[in-house]
Amino acid sequence: MMTTTRKTLKRGALAAAAMLFMSVAVAGGYATAATTTSGEAVAAEQAEGLGSLVADYKTRSAGRYTGASWAPFAKALKTAASVAADASATVPEVAAAKTALMTTAGNLEAADEGTFQTITNNTFWNDTSGNPIYSQGGGVFKFGDTYYWYGVHYLGAESYRANPTRKYDNQVSFVSIPVYSSRDLVNWKFENRVATRSTPINNGATLGQAGWVGRLGVSYNENTGKYVLATQAYVGGGHGVLFLQGDSPTDTFDYAYFQTQVVNSPTTGTGDQTVFTDEDGKDYLIFSNREGRSRAFVSKFRESDSLRIEPGAEIGRNSSGREGNAMFKLDGKYYHAASDLHGWNTSVNYVMESSSVQSGYSGEYVLAGTEMDYSHVTQTGFFVTVKGTKQNTVIYAGDRWADFAWNGIGYNQWVPITRTGARPQFHSMTQWQFNVTTGEWRVGPANNYILNPNFQADRIVVSQVRGWTNTGGGVTNVSPGANGSRFALQLGSGSAGVRQQITVPAGTYKLSTYAKTAGSVSGAQLSVTDASGATRTLSIPSSSGWTKRESAEFQLAAGAATVTIRTNSGTLTVDDLALVKTSGDDPPPVGQRYEAETAPAVCQGTIDTNHAGFTGTGFCNGSNAVGAYAQFTATASAAGTATLGVRFANGGSAARTANLIVNGSTVATVSFENTGGWTAWSTKNLTVSLNAGSNTIQLSPTAADGLPNIDHLNVGSA
Ligand code: GCU
Ligand code: CA
Repeated sequence: MMTTTRKTLKRGALAAAAMLFMSVAVAGGYATAATTTSGEAVAAEQAEGLGSLVADYKTRSAGRYTGASWAPFAKALKTAASVAADASATVPEVAAAKTALMTTAGNLEAADEGTFQTITNNTFWNDTSGNPIYSQGGGVFKFGDTYYWYGVHYLGAESYRANPTRKYDNQVSFVSIPVYSSRDLVNWKFENRVATRSTPINNGATLGQAGWVGRLGVSYNENTGKYVLATQAYVGGGHGVLFLQGDSPTDTFDYAYFQTQVVNSPTTGTGDQTVFTDEDGKDYLIFSNREGRSRAFVSKFRESDSLRIEPGAEIGRNSSGREGNAMFKLDGKYYHAASDLHGWNTSVNYVMESSSVQSGYSGEYVLAGTEMDYSHVTQTGFFVTVKGTKQNTVIYAGDRWADFAWNGIGYNQWVPITRTGARPQFHSMTQWQFNVTTGEWRVGPANNYILNPNFQADRIVVSQVRGWTNTGGGVTNVSPGANGSRFALQLGSGSAGVRQQITVPAGTYKLSTYAKTAGSVSGAQLSVTDASGATRTLSIPSSSGWTKRESAEFQLAAGAATVTIRTNSGTLTVDDLALVKTSGDDPPPVGQRYEAETAPAVCQGTIDTNHAGFTGTGFCNGSNAVGAYAQFTATASAAGTATLGVRFANGGSAARTANLIVNGSTVATVSFENTGGWTAWSTKNLTVSLNAGSNTIQLSPTAADGLPNIDHLNVGSA
């Protein structure tokens, strides 16, 4: 009976049903003229939404996906195309076609391994057209095979971006809700403004008249085929959750409902809120109560149409209050995260965990890694869970705009979260790379290994700076810092110092800082001690104004390292510290590997195996003498530029120098720095010209200590 009605119910007939349904939906909120659209128009708009999705999905090509995942998608796309073109299709038919298309597209499995894309924090992000991304307090939601990022464009975001060297208090005047799309979570294409100041809302008002709009999320409703946006709003003297909806993820959204009270919450409206979609497609509003914000709730979106928030399940209390409430799921567990209360100020993340979404949560604990720099100088924004072919990775998307701004550059600071043992771990990085296909991530080549290097995390003057341990003397942060930043670190006289423990991979690094001094300084320095106990020091001479100081390159062994800043006397002020890798034991450029122990390679010395970590069956321990060379014979398919990667270890007391001789000509002098030990292998990248066919590549030492130990040569095209 239901099936037949559905099949025969055409657009005209549906008009009456839609109006009847909408006119009764008034309890607990506002119903307005916006809901009286005729059923005919509703179906037409929905078909149009489906049509725009079909047009987008037609650009996917079969070759990029596994056959097993492509077949159901191709079938759903074909059905969706005919439903979208059928003027007599009913609303339920359109919704069913859309849901099938979303589901099968969401299940598309890439046939390749994907690529790593770079995410750089502490910058203002742009969309793929080079325009600013303005997207505060929003969320990223996956519909079909595409991620959509919704958030709020506030006027203050423009001011801060134009001049980030001051604070802009309370500039939260609403401009619009933009939506961006991406398939790799790194490159974002601007699609539309789903709502603007002129979007009509309840009581004949427009969104521009709302006292506050923010903290929003979008869910897809399988029954109506609508994309429902739920945002916090203060409208006409009432706090509540405002619902807008559209027929495609990038549609211009229309007003649907304004709900002032969520049952079980002690106050109207919500404290902070985000939308969480579980693996089964069910959507939840994650929020704290508006006043006091001491109670955390997880509420279901009404299943029939997602236009109501059902009674809240209280999952935890904290008398200090929490905001920035958001949820992620990792390896079957639910994690509720929240920040301290203070309006987008930076904060650690407080986590509660449970194996069921609405109950049974643990007590609160601090998410490991967020304590070092207040979550990379952000407040909890939202999470994106990526199910890769190799691993699941959760992206923490932090909001940096503390009341409002001057806490560093950029609004969006994203870092990965993975599980270390039983608990999740936050990986604070200034740059990282992410492969959305496999779910894998790795540290970016320009990452700064020092945490809270700009001393911005605290926001207020303190005598113990976040992430740093005082080792004596007077320590404080002072404002302003170098380069227009808000804070710098000041060490007073009397053997003052701080230190920080970090973890680094083996490689070649550089240490730098902006510094200025006062009084007669002695022993002012920045240094790093690696896991082997070796210390590299950047001495800081006196200067009354900000001066950039930079060390020469040095090697660090893999493992724990300690960064120390100190002065014996005088005042030292530092800011913008950086410990950045200049090269290292990265995977060599793809190419041919030639082992030093394998003929036709020549080793003027012995082939040894006593220092672990070499590739192949040994390494070349050249005699300690001028000219005691290691030589490789490499084949190039064509004449041209090639990248050489020389893998070496130098546990001697100083750098060792060698001439690089290609086909008999000396083309460069190469310095092989101390790597921190004979088992600490590192790769030196060099660029040379090779002939087509066979080439001899010789490393000939220029001093009596000879070569470092040489493991292999990698030859790749540049
Ligand atoms: C040590 C070390 C050798 C290395 C040599 C050197 O003997 O064990 O592997 O080649 O020093 O200084 O060259
Ligand atoms: Ca040697």
